[in-house]
Amino acid sequence: MDLHDYKDVAENYDAYLSVMYSEHDNYEGFRDFYLDLAREYGNKGTIDIACGTGAVLLHLAQAGIDVDGTDLSEAMCDVAHKKAISMGLSPRIFAANMTDFQSDRKYSLAIIARSGFMHLLTPELQRKALNNIRENLTDGGVLTLNTFAPYPIYQAEQMKTTEDDYSFRLEYTNIEGQRERIYDAITYDPKTQLMYGNWKFETLDENGHTIAKRIRPLKMRQTYKQEMLYLIELCGFEVIDIYGDYHKNKDAAGSSLIWLLKKAR
Ligand SMILES: C[S@@+](CC[C@H](N)C(=O)[O-])C[C@H]1O[C@@H](n2cnc3c(N)ncnc32)[C@H](O)[C@@H]1O
Repeated sequence: MDLHDYKDVAENYDAYLSVMYSEHDNYEGFRDFYLDLAREYGNKGTIDIACGTGAVLLHLAQAGIDVDGTDLSEAMCDVAHKKAISMGLSPRIFAANMTDFQSDRKYSLAIIARSGFMHLLTPELQRKALNNIRENLTDGGVLTLNTFAPYPIYQAEQMKTTEDDYSFRLEYTNIEGQRERIYDAITYDPKTQLMYGNWKFETLDENGHTIAKRIRPLKMRQTYKQEMLYLIELCGFEVIDIYGDYHKNKDAAGSSLIWLLKKAR
């Protein structure tokens, strides 16, 4: 089980993310970036892979885009489904692993938003997912995903941290109206390129005393740009563009790489 497989995490995901990105949002503008792509490339249908609670999926569906969603976590799919109903929307949402999902249709656009691809923990799984997505795309279909360019200074810091060496991340109000504090302890292994560790959720009473605690694991793999370029070629894709932010800025200084890929012939 990883972080997003837990029901409590899925149900509170939107609430804690809105606090996490309230000051500095690594993904600023991402919903409209994907909406533009869906309008440009999604004429035969769009699939939001690792759709989570539907941040992109429901934004697109609301704008009238023909879009399906899939995610490994049944808990995340359940939340997305309930949100869709409350918005009067009915996109198809199914639980599946991006390494082997099969849809009954092919799509001209596949989206993996907000680092879903980084949850593939080995080069073999990355390759399996890219090959499988390719199978689910129409000829010339487009895939977009993002990675974070590994940053040696952060890596060095994380190599000093252990899996229970917690730092405070944020405080938010959970879906039951209780205050919760999130702490994380993430370490980095340069041999596997895995960032792994735990998130700790502490529930507080009205006096600020901790009344409950949950530990949830998280693992993600960092992938170098050069590695991605080989992987993309190996799996039958061509690079259309690489952006540095969600405003299509190609030389943005941030660590984010947003890949726009096309299924090669
Ligand atoms: C950081 S969340 C992003 C969710 C959503 N795209 C968003 O923008 O809010 C990453 C998601 O990837 C999903 N995930 C992880 N591994 C996966 C896999 N192998 N196949 C499909 N989904 C996966 C998780 O369940 C989680 O919902």
